[in-house]
Amino acid sequence: MLSKITRRNFFNKSLGLSAGALFFKNLPVFGIRIKETTPMIVTSHTNQTGQLAMEAGWKILAEGGSAVDAVEKAANVIEVDPEDTSVGYGGLPNENGIVQLDASIMDGKTYNAGAVACLENIKNPASVARVVMERTDHILMVGQGALEFARKWGFKEEDLLTEKSRKIWLRWKENLNKYDDWGPPDHLRDKQKIESYWKNFPEVEHHYGTTNVLAVDKNGDIAGITTTSGLSFKIPGRVGDSPIIGAGLYVDNEIGAAGATGRGEDVIKSLASYYMVLRMKDGRTPQQACEDALHMIIGKYSNVNPDFYPSEKFIAINKFGETGCATMRSNRNPIMSVRTGNGYTKYEGEIGYPDK
Ligand code: GLY
Repeated sequence: MLSKITRRNFFNKSLGLSAGALFFKNLPVFGIRIKETTPMIVTSHTNQTGQLAMEAGWKILAEGGSAVDAVEKAANVIEVDPEDTSVGYGGLPNENGIVQLDASIMDGKTYNAGAVACLENIKNPASVARVVMERTDHILMVGQGALEFARKWGFKEEDLLTEKSRKIWLRWKENLNKYDDWGPPDHLRDKQKIESYWKNFPEVEHHYGTTNVLAVDKNGDIAGITTTSGLSFKIPGRVGDSPIIGAGLYVDNEIGAAGATGRGEDVIKSLASYYMVLRMKDGRTPQQACEDALHMIIGKYSNVNPDFYPSEKFIAINKFGETGCATMRSNRNPIMSVRTGNGYTKYEGEIGYPDK
């Protein structure tokens, strides 16, 4: 059965006496020592597919497999879900109706990374990113070159546009408006006007949906993936934060890992995932690191548009199995999926900037 845990009772649970395989780690957090919860895998996706993904990744970790294998397997589950319009197959297309995918992977153990951007026709961009990471000396491959590379490695080509996504895209085209991406950047426009415009078209999903998967394996090695179809109806060729190492994803085997979803433009400028990992290096908990990154971004915008608040959701883990999750000015606290030897649960984070 699923249980919902808040940050406070997560720590309380972590301090309980129940968990069989867990043991105390010499890690001071708020002046106390917490129990290690690794191996562990987490994702920003909290729907049923997110849970299935966690089970697929956990199976690998429970059998002693590597974090990098676990995150790839879990991300693939989310990528192939045809109902999910934010990632992989069935993702919302660019403004021309073509699905273009971005993904990155980072392996803390080898300090290696791979990524693809604007990749068309391949259901599992995270797996192509892994081949880039392991079989080339490159990190980021884009567009046609990435597709040809994937073909050479035997990835099957298929149309990624589902009937559901095509209909949503057509509704968007019928309502083409002054808030498409040809205008000036969102943070220099009136956010409330943009939001109230889109409220008129609730059937048109206009979003930056993405997923992050982060894991620590039994050896303490850490890996992560961020994968997405990017901003829906984007200008063809637009690359978001997801395939940019340090922006949509960062892993440091000595510290932890972080990933971002939401408006990639903010995340690229702030290198938010790298920033979160650096904050954890400075002793901040994953939760505090996520909130720090939101504060940093809002601070940057405060001079140009104090009414603008970014749409990001950040997640982070450290190598001891602590988790963090934060978002900006939402009606409800952000949540993330967590799978450990204690089962599946949803971790509830914090709204990082409630006073804006
Ligand atoms: N965070 C996904 C994107 O902006 O493309």
